[in-house]
Amino acid sequence: MAAVTIPALQKMKAEGIKISMTTAYDYPTACLVEKAGIEIILVGDSLAMTVLGMDSTVPVTMDEMIHHIKPVVKGAPTPLIVGDMPFGSYQVSPEEAVANAIRLMKEGGCDTVKLEGGSDMAPIVKRIVKAGVPVMGHIGLTPQTVSMLGGFKVQGKGEAAAKVLLQDALDLQEAGAWGLIIEAVPENVARLITEKVTIPTIGIGGGRYCDGQVLVFHDMFGLFDKFLPKFVKQYAQLGEQIVAGLETFKEDVRETRFPEEKHVFGGVTEEELKRLY
Ligand code: KIV
Repeated sequence: MAAVTIPALQKMKAEGIKISMTTAYDYPTACLVEKAGIEIILVGDSLAMTVLGMDSTVPVTMDEMIHHIKPVVKGAPTPLIVGDMPFGSYQVSPEEAVANAIRLMKEGGCDTVKLEGGSDMAPIVKRIVKAGVPVMGHIGLTPQTVSMLGGFKVQGKGEAAAKVLLQDALDLQEAGAWGLIIEAVPENVARLITEKVTIPTIGIGGGRYCDGQVLVFHDMFGLFDKFLPKFVKQYAQLGEQIVAGLETFKEDVRETRFPEEKHVFGGVTEEELKRLY
């Protein structure tokens, strides 16, 4: 399969073909997502919580993001790879935002970057795009600023809030964003935005009418058990299976059922060994 491009994704929207996107933060996961034919991989700052054990996405650094983007790029040559810009890497000044976006692409090797925020972020998006780095927007529930939003709550409820959200989407599109993540928004508001913009919308808790859907890999497969948002569909309980496997391994070791003869090496005869005692 040819590598997925931004124009190819925009064509999928135009033709009504739904787009799939998941996170990946390492080489083996990227290889699995590649095999499944998923169109977009997000190396999301959610890795702060799902693989680095942090309490939120806020502390993750540029260096940590780059460290995780690199193996994903190696493992998944086909999907479009989106590198998430961590909190603090794009808010201070447009110059810093441009420099950090370039770092993610140049050092990490991702195809495009993503940043959170609506109309306020449009000038930053414009500068990054002008520097030659494609940008994906992220509106609605924006986890980096969750305390300002009053917690992990559905956004865009009621006419006034829905209007603001629509304006966020239009301003980001105008600034040059090629696509939008819409997180935790009423289904009919995400539908309105999807119909009003020409760029692909990818929902996570945005309902059925977005141009595509994204889920966090660790949520989908039961590998993160701190909390599970309503919008997640779990496709397997790998965490439980892994714990059961580890418990069996421990019992096998205790009871000397592992290793078996087929797992061991030969190479010294008993006679030779006797001489060494
Ligand atoms: O970091 C992430 O995984 C994300 C998704 C929630 C879209 O931004």
